[in-house]
Amino acid sequence: MKELNGKRILLIIGGGIAAYKSLELIRSLKKYGSHVEVILTNSGRKFVTELSVSQLAESEVHTDLFNYKSELKMGHINLSRDSDILIVAPGTANLISRIAYGMADELATATLLASNKPIIIVPAMNPQMWNNPATQKNLMSIKKFGIHLCGPAIGETACGENGMGRMEEPESIAYFVNEYFTKKNRLKNKKALVTAGPTIEPIDPVRYISNNSSGKQGYAIASALAEYGADTTLISGPSSVDPPDGVEIIRVKTAMEMLDAAKSISPADIGIFAAAVVDWKIKEYSENKIKKNARKKMLELTENVSVIQSVVRNNNLKPKLSIGFAAETENIYENATEKLLKNDLDWLLANDVSEDKEVFDGDYNSVVFFDRSGSEKWHRMAKIDVADKLVNKITKYFQ
Ligand SMILES: Cc1cc2nc3c(=O)[nH]c(=O)nc-3n(C[C@H](O)[C@H](O)[C@H](O)COP(=O)(O)O)c2cc1C
Repeated sequence: MKELNGKRILLIIGGGIAAYKSLELIRSLKKYGSHVEVILTNSGRKFVTELSVSQLAESEVHTDLFNYKSELKMGHINLSRDSDILIVAPGTANLISRIAYGMADELATATLLASNKPIIIVPAMNPQMWNNPATQKNLMSIKKFGIHLCGPAIGETACGENGMGRMEEPESIAYFVNEYFTKKNRLKNKKALVTAGPTIEPIDPVRYISNNSSGKQGYAIASALAEYGADTTLISGPSSVDPPDGVEIIRVKTAMEMLDAAKSISPADIGIFAAAVVDWKIKEYSENKIKKNARKKMLELTENVSVIQSVVRNNNLKPKLSIGFAAETENIYENATEKLLKNDLDWLLANDVSEDKEVFDGDYNSVVFFDRSGSEKWHRMAKIDVADKLVNKITKYFQ
């Protein structure tokens, strides 16, 4: 755990029964050489005492937002400025919901809201609380803010019920934090290209052909690659998703523009082709708006360029690792395997969009992962988690 050595960690202890494990966590983090400062939430103070926390942390414990002494130094701002990372453990359902809604109603939440440092939340709650749609919605919000989750584990919780919601053990949390610090170097010096979103093919100056792709999955992958240290360029068709931090973005409209952009940054080490490139374009673009009462109502289509084929099947442009995406409505296994082989891809992620109606603009995805030796079905998960799982596989490939 050498990454923990010398790190300044701000631990926020929420008001859950698992708060006793956070005392052990302080010991673990200190054992690996970290300096630990602690904020106790108002409810956290009911579960562990300031005395035991301060003794173990060997530092002052912060509790009060309106403390005139610490606020002389802007405590609620500077506690995060002086830290390398913030850990919230236990992350109770209530605390997660306050973070999701941007509340700043006590020192812990005000510090989290004002933080400019990475945040890891370690959830701990009753399985029903965890599965409650309100909690799941809040978890999705905080993931979109870029907050990381460590756990929870499955097992018996303190309330005696079994299921998802058990707080991770202190050593596993320390390992997770150490991994967080190492991961930003895992793809260092690797160049990544990601295509995302739909393309559009104009019919006339006011109309076009396109599809339902939102770009969310590709954007999440670009974001994860950047977090793992890859020098990442995202080539995006029209999309309303916010550009991820640390990623260079090239905005395009047509398939041809996407291909030109992809060529301009090829060959990459990693090429991920998540864009839904329109397969056909209009044979003859009309310079003027086609009138409603025009005699010719049939639009003649012609096959579009294939961005994947043009890049992956060209030895001068081919990425070291090529990954495609396929949205299928039938025969997912046959069609995905065919696309993998035809395009000379190393991996392919296929989703059955007839099964999961919400996949296009939604936050979740159900994918089947294919490589040259077979396939594995990934359970339905947030697109952010699909991205993380994929990028994890990529780091292993390059190791
Ligand atoms: C004995 C007891 C145990 C509790 N354990 C948990 C828990 O493990 N997880 C949780 O989300 N809430 C738990 N709660 C409810 C929280 O204490 C309550 O929602 C509190 O407001 C959370 O405070 P926080 O937002 O500062 O974390 C528990 C309450 C009691 C009385």
